[in-house]
Amino acid sequence: MSRPKDFISIADWPPEEIVRMLDRAAELKRLRAARVPVSMLAGKSVLLYFEKPSLRTYVSFGIGVSELGGTPVYLPPGQVQLGGREALQDVARNLSRYCHMIVARTFDHDLVVGLARHADKPVVNALTDDLHPCQAMADALTIQEHGDLRSDRLVWVGDGNNMVSSLIHLAGVLGMQLTVCTPERYGPDPAVVERGRELAAASGGELRFETDPVAAVKDAAFVYTDVWASMGQESQAEERRSAFAGYQVNAQLMAAAPSGARFLHCLPAHRGEEVTEEVLESSASIVFDQAENRLHVQKAIMEALVDPS
Ligand code: CP
Ligand code: NVA
Repeated sequence: MSRPKDFISIADWPPEEIVRMLDRAAELKRLRAARVPVSMLAGKSVLLYFEKPSLRTYVSFGIGVSELGGTPVYLPPGQVQLGGREALQDVARNLSRYCHMIVARTFDHDLVVGLARHADKPVVNALTDDLHPCQAMADALTIQEHGDLRSDRLVWVGDGNNMVSSLIHLAGVLGMQLTVCTPERYGPDPAVVERGRELAAASGGELRFETDPVAAVKDAAFVYTDVWASMGQESQAEERRSAFAGYQVNAQLMAAAPSGARFLHCLPAHRGEEVTEEVLESSASIVFDQAENRLHVQKAIMEALVDPS
């Protein structure tokens, strides 16, 4: 597998490159703590385009670019209307003349794919309706810090959404043990599951699928959940609240997991819905380590993509 120009899906990347980025992210974290400057983006500009709201991704990319010596440029979506005011391919080609990298969060996954196809600069997927690869990379770094990436089981409880799709790819690429527990009607994208299985067959990973949360967490080292209605699904929030009622991560569910199991959430969290305040604030919760690690892994991703010349 050759090294892609863009970071759109973890499944496109060779395992050794993903491992290298995670190692570099850990190193960048140490260097930042020691206040050692790193300037891989000196003289470069990175365009940030976000169609959906964002706290962590927006801020950590902006600060990450600055800390690497580059200039972040924020393009409000209303200014461009991708594919509306101007054709996607023309936007991509214009941006390629100005900046050295594009970071984009869109509803439609095909927009990020189209930007990458027509831009001759690297494009980073900052979340689409389909995938959230940068978050999954931060999760891998966090799991590595608190356990063992290959032997500790990660158990997803909740919606079969963009987040779990990237975790399925990650598990397949890195040979992780992943259980995905969703209600029957809200399972993950079958194409993602198929790709995850292919990757896992090559890496020694194991993907399990469950519908019963108590059974799913019985051998969990990490229990992970996310909102029941993702951005863009707000009108389904009510029906989803009933469909996912038995899937809340609460003290009772954490008690069904082995002692010492950690709690993960990509955030933002809806306290009292997919997770209780008690679990989110418990000593098992490492959600802010995950959030911090966004900064370090995204710096490593940008370093890996940027043309150093
Ligand atoms: N986890 C995450 O991507 O958060 P934001 O939506 O705030 O960027
Ligand atoms: N699944 C969530 C993730 C947010 C970081 C969403 O897409 O809204």
